[in-house]
Amino acid sequence: MSALPSEPSVSALPTPLQSDGEPTRPSGLYDSWWTVTAAALTAGLTLSACAWISQHLQADPALHTTALFVHLASLVLGFGAVLVVDYHGLLWMSGRCALRDVLESTARLHFPIWTGLAGLVVSGVMLHPDLTSPLTRTKLALVLVLTLNGLQAGLLNRRMARHVSTALAPRLLAWGATTALVSQLCWWGAVGIGFYNGQR
Ligand code: HEM
Repeated sequence: MSALPSEPSVSALPTPLQSDGEPTRPSGLYDSWWTVTAAALTAGLTLSACAWISQHLQADPALHTTALFVHLASLVLGFGAVLVVDYHGLLWMSGRCALRDVLESTARLHFPIWTGLAGLVVSGVMLHPDLTSPLTRTKLALVLVLTLNGLQAGLLNRRMARHVSTALAPRLLAWGATTALVSQLCWWGAVGIGFYNGQR
């Protein structure tokens, strides 16, 4: 899942070469806008299916309590990892670490981020969200946006990895800042709405 060219190959077999001499490999999720768009459509359909399922599932009190625990544990895992990524970004902006370090930690944290998000969605389905509430709908929209934002962030990571030894173009800098801002707004928005709904 890493976007970094320095990552060691896990395969012991010789890698076939393309006509330009570059090793061929199966196309990955973050290879192009096409793959990212396909993943975004899949994510949108999956979220819609989860919203539909949530209206047809009735969890008993014990399952509801367990789901709430899993929801909060997934929040710690997913959002915690997102905060570490953004903290590394801040360290880089203040000149305290190299871009390579940021990209490396970001690539390593993809797994806890996506696992946490998947845990939030699956447990959220069992918490029986009230889809007639505008706030809950807003929260689900934020979850969709942060999912799409996370997918395009993988592509950004790839693009930035090509510039680890040169200065980043302003376009990439703006792209990175917007991605971090959208991510923070969506995560905090979903946390705020979840917390507010839980108090009512
Ligand atoms: C980034 C994703 C998400 C975050 C950060 C988040 C955050 C939270 C938080 C902080 C709570 C309060 C827990 C408490 O009562 O102490 C909560 C509750 C809840 N969450 Fe989420 N959640 C997320 C995704 C989802 C999804 C995808 C669903 C539904 C499919 C969902 C459904 C619920 C429900 C039903 C509750 C109980 C309160 C209510 O009726 O809204 N959550 N969430």
